[in-house]
Amino acid sequence: MFLVKAVFVLLLFILSTGQATMMGHNGHTHHSLLTDKAALLAFKSTIKFDPNCTIAGWGDDVDVCSFRGVRCDKHHHRVAQLFLPDCGLTGHFSPFLSNLTGLRVLKLFNNHFSGVIPPEFSHLRHLLCLQLDENNLQGPIPESFALLSKLRTLTLSENSLTEALPPSFFRNCTSLGNLDLSLNFFTGKIPQEIGNSPHLWSLNLYNNQFVGQLPASLVNTSMCNLDVGTNNLSGELPSDILGKLSLLKYLQLSYNNMISHDKNSNLEPFFTALENCTSLAELQLVSMGLGGRLPSSISQLNITKMLLQENQITGSIPPSIANLSYLMTLNLTSNHLNGKISSMISRLSKLEQLFLSQNLFSGEIPAVLGQLPHLGLLDLSYNNFNGPIPATSRMGWGACGKLPWM
Ligand SMILES: *[C@@H]1O[C@H](CO)[C@@H](O)[C@H](O)[C@H]1NC(C)=O
Ligand SMILES: *[C@@H]1O[C@H](CO)[C@@H](O)[C@H](O)[C@H]1NC(C)=O
Ligand SMILES: *[C@@H]1O[C@H](CO)[C@@H](O)[C@H](O)[C@H]1NC(C)=O
Ligand SMILES: *[C@@H]1O[C@H](CO)[C@@H](O)[C@H](O)[C@H]1NC(C)=O
Ligand SMILES: *[C@@H]1O[C@H](CO)[C@@H](O)[C@H](O)[C@H]1NC(C)=O
Ligand SMILES: *[C@@H]1O[C@H](CO)[C@@H](O)[C@H](O)[C@H]1NC(C)=O
Ligand SMILES: *[C@@H]1O[C@H](CO)[C@@H](O)[C@H](O)[C@H]1NC(C)=O
Ligand SMILES: *[C@@H]1O[C@H](CO)[C@@H](O)[C@H](O)[C@H]1NC(C)=O
Ligand SMILES: *[C@@H]1O[C@H](CO)[C@@H](O)[C@H](O)[C@H]1NC(C)=O
Repeated sequence: MFLVKAVFVLLLFILSTGQATMMGHNGHTHHSLLTDKAALLAFKSTIKFDPNCTIAGWGDDVDVCSFRGVRCDKHHHRVAQLFLPDCGLTGHFSPFLSNLTGLRVLKLFNNHFSGVIPPEFSHLRHLLCLQLDENNLQGPIPESFALLSKLRTLTLSENSLTEALPPSFFRNCTSLGNLDLSLNFFTGKIPQEIGNSPHLWSLNLYNNQFVGQLPASLVNTSMCNLDVGTNNLSGELPSDILGKLSLLKYLQLSYNNMISHDKNSNLEPFFTALENCTSLAELQLVSMGLGGRLPSSISQLNITKMLLQENQITGSIPPSIANLSYLMTLNLTSNHLNGKISSMISRLSKLEQLFLSQNLFSGEIPAVLGQLPHLGLLDLSYNNFNGPIPATSRMGWGACGKLPWM
């Protein structure tokens, strides 16, 4: 009996000298923490290049909870976070990390991991945040990710991911708040199931190959930041959906194939719907071939940036635009706008950038433009203006040596 006890004490001693924090409160080694260490060392063995020696110190003789980039939970029973962004780590993305089943946060963005996202990552059931942006990952989002139902943040931007988004993922993972899949090669429609996440506030899908229309289910989210620019979305501008996104701050629809109402001739329902988005600060509808006139109701948007260049917008600029007293950037370049620029524009006292180039504007350039205190970039070129160039109270223009409307 004594002997057995002595051996046990000796064992404890050996364990506690080498791996002190693997001891729980009651003095037992946590098997799960040994598993976590084995997984991390197996992961390390797949790294071909570690330019900053970030994980060089990971070793058998080191407490796993003091591995660089690793955080254990407060009872030290599991690895809870792995944080190795911007490290230049290079290697095939191995499934070994899927053994870290206590993991809540996994941030590996801006490295050089290649290969597919391992389907085994679905074992990470407690994962709240997965960030793999700026790597060289290929292939689809694994179907098995439907099991990651606690996920709040998923960012996979700037990889080479392909295929359609799995609807099962969105059906099940309803805790999503921030989803960034931009700058990949995803195809197919944006699944209706994406609206199953009531807390979804930021959706970045820009620069992919999505087709079809925005899913109506988005009305059930808390959308604040919606960027679906540079895809192949089609159909009418989604006024009905946008009019219900009352928290929307940033809307980017540029470089898609959408049209305005009444066979691409009526922008009014769209701008009317946006009146419901009382926090909208930025609107970007660049190069969509949109037709119609700017409605005078545009004055109801309390917006700071409006990019409408490279469309087929007709008519004149409604004088009510002068009510957009927080407007800093207005770009209407390359449309079919005509008429005079009202001197009311001088009420846009926050204006910094005004681009009206390549339209059919005529008449005199209002002298008051020269007095806008913050105007730093002004392009009025390729129009039918006549009369004198307004004098300016600001030194900056003269110093630039060129006046862009000449
Ligand atoms: C991962 O866990 C499984 C089962 O728990 C085990 O068989 C395997 O050896 C572990 N792999 C690594 C790299 O830790
Ligand atoms: C190495 O670390 C420095 C400082 O953190 C960082 O600026 C640099 O980009 C890293 N190198 C690589 C290759 O990631
Ligand atoms: C959805 O999540 C639940 C709970 O996590 C899981 O039991 C179920 O298998 C998941 N469904 C799919 C299709 O993976
Ligand atoms: C929004 O959610 C409700 C309740 O879950 C559901 O009945 C409705 O169909 C959803 N709307 C859309 C457009 O998906
Ligand atoms: C984009 O969609 C249009 C129809 O909406 C289709 O004619 C075109 O082939 C699509 N382009 C790509 C690259 O998918
Ligand atoms: C704007 O909000 C009002 C009031 O909530 C609602 O009746 C209307 O349908 C909304 N507009 C759109 C386009 O959804
Ligand atoms: C208009 O927008 C500005 C700047 O975003 C903000 O400071 C101001 O409170 C807004 N006004 C209203 C009435 O929403
Ligand atoms: C512009 O705003 C003023 C009050 O700030 C309001 O009385 C007027 O009706 C608005 N004009 C338009 C065209 O919206
Ligand atoms: C305005 O649009 C033109 C034409 O697309 C572009 O060259 C210019 O950079 C834009 N300026 C701003 C501030 O968006």
